Amino acid sequence: MSGSNATASKGVAGMVLAALIGVPLVVYLLIKLFTSGMSTNLTSSTMTSEAVSARLQPVGVVKVVEGGAPGSRTGKGVFESVCISCHGAGLAGSPKFGDAGAWGARIAQGFDTLTKHALGGFNAMPAKGGAADLTDDEVKRAVAYMANAGGAKFTEPPVAGAAAGGAVDPNTKGKEIYGSTCVACHGSGAAGAPKFGDKAAWAPRLKDGVDAAIAIGVKGLNAMPPKGGYAGSDEEFKAAALYMINSSK
Ligand code: HEC
Ligand code: HEC
Repeated sequence: MSGSNATASKGVAGMVLAALIGVPLVVYLLIKLFTSGMSTNLTSSTMTSEAVSARLQPVGVVKVVEGGAPGSRTGKGVFESVCISCHGAGLAGSPKFGDAGAWGARIAQGFDTLTKHALGGFNAMPAKGGAADLTDDEVKRAVAYMANAGGAKFTEPPVAGAAAGGAVDPNTKGKEIYGSTCVACHGSGAAGAPKFGDKAAWAPRLKDGVDAAIAIGVKGLNAMPPKGGYAGSDEEFKAAALYMINSSK
């Protein structure tokens, strides 16, 4: 009796062992079969030059440019809506954004040559990156933005009438926001607010620089609510703060 029991349990143990080794083996072989099929596909059909250029096609015909009114788009805005489609990853041999090694020799040609190539096209680089509605200045801004990220120190051509571009003009919009919001406290110096035009009240607040004072204003400080309770953008708040700060200089 005890002998046949031992044989039976050996048989069960054998089956368990076979399942433990056999099942994963089959799964492994199946996976290998499928993935090798996939990699064959990849090399044979999807990597041909036709297939690659078909994938590159759409980026060359970009039409929609986001990031502001025509003419007033910043280098960053143009890059992020147009140039990024190639330069973001370095497609088609384009110098990749932020890659100082890829940009070094190109930057050495100077801003004018880079700009000429970006405007008129250069080998696989389409004229204006394929976005014909960009103004020349917008393309120049994008060139400066990309080149600077690759180590250059070019100046982006300024956006005419900065108010339209993104930077908000302290003397118009800033003044307006001051008049509708900030004046409630800063007009009279209520609740300990530095008073408009009061040089002595503003001086200690500006000792770490204008940007630092504005950053504190964005966060709020004691009786000063975040952004002074203003609901608009940080840029607009900044313009209002600059309007006040300029008046106290
Ligand atoms: C369809 C892809 C594509 C798009 C979109 C694109 N570029 Fe390019 N760009 C290239 C390629 C490719 C090169 C490299 C050309 C070469 O050196 O042969 C290049 C090179 C450049 C260069 C260096 C030229 C030189 O003299 O070395 C600048 C500057 C440039 N691009 C600016 C831009 C700007 C600005 C935009 C957006 C407005 C843009 N590119 C959009 C593909 C693109
Ligand atoms: C409810 C009253 C109130 C309103 C409204 C208000 N502020 Fe203030 N603000 C203050 C007070 C109070 C302080 C000083 C806080 C302190 O030092 O304790 C201050 C300080 C500041 C500072 C200086 C921060 C620093 O570094 O010391 C800036 C900048 C500023 N406000 C900008 C603005 C702007 C811009 C607006 C309008 C968009 C605005 N404030 C609206 C009360 C106000």
